[in-house]
Amino acid sequence: MQNKLIQAAMEARKRAYANYSHFHVGAAVETSQGKIFPGCNVENASYSLTMCAERTALFSAIAAGEKEFTRLVVATENGVSPCGACRQVIWELCGDIPITLVDESGACTETSAAQLLPHAFGQQDLGA
Ligand code: THU
Repeated sequence: MQNKLIQAAMEARKRAYANYSHFHVGAAVETSQGKIFPGCNVENASYSLTMCAERTALFSAIAAGEKEFTRLVVATENGVSPCGACRQVIWELCGDIPITLVDESGACTETSAAQLLPHAFGQQDLGA
C-alpha cells in the first residue's frame, strides 16, 4: 500500500506547475479507507499565490469529504521535507501521521508530523 502511495506522489510530481522555481513537488495522502489523493505544487506569476504540493493534496481530500488520514508521501528531486506552512496544515488536518519523503531515485526517509513540528500549536491550545 505504501508503494502505491509513493508511486502516486512521484506521478503527481510530474504534473507540478513550477514555471518559476522549476522545483517540482508531488504529494499523496492516504485516507483511513485506503483512498489516495495526489497533489502537486502550483505556482503563479504573482509568486506568493503559489500552493505547495502537500496542501494541494490535503485540500483536495478535504474537499472530497475525507476526514481521516493515515500517511503522507512527499516527492522531490532531493527528498527534502515540507515547508513550515505545510507542517502546520498537516498537523491540523492529520495529527501525528507518518510521513515518507522520497527523492527522484525512489530513496525514502521516514518521519512523522510530530517530528517535523515539535511543540505544535493546535486546536487544543485555543482553550475551552
Ligand atoms: N514547495 C512545495 O510544494 N512543498 C514544500 O513543502 C516546499 C516548497 C514548492 C513551492 C514552490 O512551488 C517550490 O516548491 C519552491 O519553493
